[in-house]
Amino acid sequence: MTAAIQRRLEIPEPQRAEQTELHPELNRAHVRFINLGKTYNGQQGPVAALHGIDLAIQRGEVFGIIGRSGAGKSSLIRTINRLEQPSSGRVLIDQVDIGEFDEDRLVALRRRIGMIFQHFNLMSAKTVWQNVELPLKVAGVPKEKREQKVRELLELVGLQAKHKAYPAQLSGGQKQRVGIARALVHDPQILLCDEATSALDPETTQSILGLLREINQRLGLTIVLITHEMAVIREICDRVVVLEHGRIVEQGPVWEVFGNPQHEVSKTLLAPLQHALPKELQSRLQPQPKSSDAAVVLRLQFTGSQRDEPDLAALFSALGGRVRLLQGGVERIQGHALGQLLLAVTGSSLDAEELCQRAAHWAQQVEVLGYVV
Ligand SMILES: Nc1ncnc2c1ncn2[C@@H]1O[C@H](COP(=O)(O)OP(=O)(O)O)[C@@H](O)[C@H]1O
Ligand SMILES: [Mg+2]
Repeated sequence: MTAAIQRRLEIPEPQRAEQTELHPELNRAHVRFINLGKTYNGQQGPVAALHGIDLAIQRGEVFGIIGRSGAGKSSLIRTINRLEQPSSGRVLIDQVDIGEFDEDRLVALRRRIGMIFQHFNLMSAKTVWQNVELPLKVAGVPKEKREQKVRELLELVGLQAKHKAYPAQLSGGQKQRVGIARALVHDPQILLCDEATSALDPETTQSILGLLREINQRLGLTIVLITHEMAVIREICDRVVVLEHGRIVEQGPVWEVFGNPQHEVSKTLLAPLQHALPKELQSRLQPQPKSSDAAVVLRLQFTGSQRDEPDLAALFSALGGRVRLLQGGVERIQGHALGQLLLAVTGSSLDAEELCQRAAHWAQQVEVLGYVV
C-alpha cells in the first residue's frame, strides 16, 4: 500500500460526500477495514485476536483469507456482518461505517450479507425447501414471493428434485448447496464463506467452488472466503491476505503470493502445493562434483512475473551439453505461468555459476542444488 493511501486511512471518518477525495482504489472498495482491532475477554484474561488490520476488498472480487489456526480469520470475517463487534478501528461497507448501526440497520445489513459455514448450520427438522424459506418468513415476505424465490434459488444450486428431503438425507455437498441457497434469499451483495468446503471431499469441493464462481460472475457478488485449503484459493480467488497472530503479514494477487511467497507463514502454508525434491535424488546429491562427468542439478523457479511460459528449446540450448528434466512443470494462475523445473546438466562447457546466469534469462529464481553422478 502506498504511503499516500496509508495516510488517508488515518484521517477521521469522513462524511460520504468527502469520500470522493479518497484514493480511487479505496473509494471503490466494497469492504474496508481501518486499523481494526479485536480483543476477547477470555477465561484467562484478554485475548488479542486482531491488531491494526487495514484492508480493502473490491466489489465483485473473490477475496481469500488464509493463516494458521487461531490467526484471527474467523474473527475478521465476522466483523463484516457484525457477528463480532470490533474492539477498535472501523469497518466500512460501501464507504459507510457499520460501527454505529442500531438494531434495525444491523438486521438490514445482515440481509445484504449472506454467510455459509463448514458445518452447514441447517435445521434438521425442516426440509430443504423450509430451510431456504425460513429467513424469508422471518423477514415477513409474502407467501407468493417466498415460493418464487425459493424455487429460483433451488434451481440455481441444482436441488429442485430434493426440495422435500431433510438434511439427514443429503450428502455434504447437497447440504452446502442448501446453505448457499439460504444465504442468497435476500439477494445479498456479499457472501462470507468460513471454511465452507472444509468438510467436503475433493470432488464435491470442486463442484461447490464452481457454484461459488458462477454466483460471483452471474450475480456479481463479492465473496470473502476463509480456507485452509490452498488449492481452493488457487482455484477461485482473485486476491489473498495472509494473517498471523491477528496481523496481516502478506497480501496480493493470488498468482503473486503463490508464485513468490515472502513471509515464512505463507511459505509454510503453500509448501504442500510445492513439489519437494524427490527423496531418491536428495540422497544422491553432492555439494561438490565428485567426478568430471557429474551433472549439475539446477532448480529454476517461475514466479509468474513474466507472463510467457518458458521456451525450453532456447533454455536448453543456452545451457549447452545435455539437459535432463528431473522433475517439474508449470501451471497457470490468473494467466501467469508459475512453477519450477529441476534440471540435470552434463557435458556443458559452462560452470555452475555460468549455467545459473544463463538460466536466469528464463526463470526468475535459479539455484544450484548440487551434483549427481
Ligand atoms: N469467543 C472467544 N472468546 C475468547 N477467545 C476467542 C473467542 N473467539 C476466538 N478467540 C481467540 O481469538 C483468536 C483468533 O480466533 P479465530 O478468529 O477463531 O481464528 P481462526 O479462525 O484463524 O482459527 C484465537 O486465539 C482464539 O482462541
Ligand atoms: Mg476460524
